[in-house]
Amino acid sequence: SPFKRDAVASGTYSTGPADVASIDWDNLGFGYIATDYMYMMKCDQGGTFSNGELQRFANIELSPSAGVLNYGQGLFEGLKAYMKEDGNILLFRPEENATRMQTGAERMCMPAPTVEQFVEAVKATVLANKRWVPPPGKGSLYIRPLLMGSGAVLGLAPAPEYTFLIYVSPVGNYFKEGLAPINLIVEHELHRATPGGTGGVKTIGNYAAVLKAQSAAKAKGYSDVLYLDCVNKKYLEEGNTISTPAIKGTILPGITRKSIIDVARSQEFQVEERLVAVDELLDADEVFCTGTAVVVSPVGSITYKGETKKYGGGGVGAVSQKLYTVLTSLQMGLTEDKMNWTLE
Ligand code: COI
Repeated sequence: SPFKRDAVASGTYSTGPADVASIDWDNLGFGYIATDYMYMMKCDQGGTFSNGELQRFANIELSPSAGVLNYGQGLFEGLKAYMKEDGNILLFRPEENATRMQTGAERMCMPAPTVEQFVEAVKATVLANKRWVPPPGKGSLYIRPLLMGSGAVLGLAPAPEYTFLIYVSPVGNYFKEGLAPINLIVEHELHRATPGGTGGVKTIGNYAAVLKAQSAAKAKGYSDVLYLDCVNKKYLEEGNTISTPAIKGTILPGITRKSIIDVARSQEFQVEERLVAVDELLDADEVFCTGTAVVVSPVGSITYKGETKKYGGGGVGAVSQKLYTVLTSLQMGLTEDKMNWTLE
């Protein structure tokens, strides 16, 4: 069914704050687990956010006429906090998420918090929920900032009030395969983004729009979908190789994507950002995807128009393994952060 709640993730679900003692840290998936606190900040008619505060995690109240509910005026972000062996917590490039939210807000006619407000709010939310950060090596605390038109509208217009909210959830692997290769299928009917559309920003509607293709792929046993550009139906959209599609409006500027490109270059790999045709992908030696949730996910096969191309003989490719290890070691504080990307 396309409405299966666990259509994407491999995790467990709970509806209210669970007992942290009951969490099986060795078997965390990417499912929602309620924690103790969330952060809430509203903005006035002038577009200035103020008086943000931590609140007990709870359901929120919205007018049925809220802009986000009626017209999808909303954005989300995603980042992770890792616990180090010494008990301190590391954030990974939170100011990048803050500026990406500002870019998205501009596209969606919303005001956004300042970078400083965003980063301070993330820090406060993580510290308030510290007991939910998985122990070193067991996963991370996934941080989900939301920005939404919470004011009531009826005619199509930007909402008169906005809410910035952050909640967190402990997570393990996004795909149940973990670092094992995933199987992807190329979608050539449905598109994720169009030129001039919102594919390049993290608006909530982008994710609702891919559920149909994703559910169909999952029903056939694939882990996820590769999208093609809607003009030529030929070039890769989201999905990255070490030749990776350049950011050109329809592709979200991923922070993990950008970090992996820098890490790859620091490891003497050549990285090209350009148009990548699907035929070329099918000729590649090794394929992997990146994202904050997955970090790096090796691809074991891609199915295109009924033909399946396999990569790496069922194993994790050397490049995927290397880049995954270098980036996660840095994120977990196991290696020196020469990039100055982490925030303790
Ligand atoms: C990411 O981390 O790459 C995402 O945006 C995944 C999210 C849909 C869970």
